[in-house]
Amino acid sequence: MKDAPFYFVQMSDAHIFGDPAREFHGTNPARNLRAAVHWINSLDPQPEFCIHTGDAVAEESEAAYRLFNEEIAGLKVPVYFAVGNHDHRSSLRRFVLNETPASDASYAYDFEVGGWHMVVLDSSDPPQVSGRIDAAQLLWLERTLQRQAHQPTVVFLHHHPLPLGVPWLDELRLKDATPFIEVLRRAPWVRSVFYGHVHFESHLTLGHLHFASVPAVSFQFGETAWCDKFSSLPPGLRLVYLEGESLRTVVHRLA
Ligand SMILES: [Fe+2]
Ligand SMILES: [Fe+2]
Repeated sequence: MKDAPFYFVQMSDAHIFGDPAREFHGTNPARNLRAAVHWINSLDPQPEFCIHTGDAVAEESEAAYRLFNEEIAGLKVPVYFAVGNHDHRSSLRRFVLNETPASDASYAYDFEVGGWHMVVLDSSDPPQVSGRIDAAQLLWLERTLQRQAHQPTVVFLHHHPLPLGVPWLDELRLKDATPFIEVLRRAPWVRSVFYGHVHFESHLTLGHLHFASVPAVSFQFGETAWCDKFSSLPPGLRLVYLEGESLRTVVHRLA
């Protein structure tokens, strides 16, 4: 019997400050995150899970992680996390994942929902803003994908692996992405790769692979080389619908 259709929500780049009143480029990140949680909680039926794909906080302070955690704890569904360049692994592990003691190790893992294999990577490369997946994690990814060969799979990470045509952001993408793309190409059961970091929606196709970025829950960046650096578009998140082995997705803006 086929697994029943289901959906999940991807949100990204909450960029929370320790001060809940603090605004940045015309948005209040804490208020936006609360609005996102409220909207997700109003969905009927509820998603199977929610994933935040990095840049939980905008500053390295305990108050920022605690505020992020407090808001995200309002969700009624299980929540998963990927590490972004603004997040310190050990702080995310300590304040969001409640690990004691909190290590600084890469946070890459996988889980299964409704017959789908979900793989979450850690592309953070401190102190760089750009991303990197080191050889050990690449090996783990290859083994993890091959172990569950032919199972429809979705991969999550923070950084965009392919250039999107915005020069200043493309400088900050996943560095040395070729071996990563090659691992994905050897796994034709991988349907989509979802990420944040660029704070706008985009889609690319490469062979069997679909790559998509999601708007930020906080402020938005311009999506072409000819736009202003910041965009006035509202915050957004992504809904991903999975049925059998097919996937469709849409962005919802929190106007
Ligand atoms: Fe970000
Ligand atoms: Fe980022």
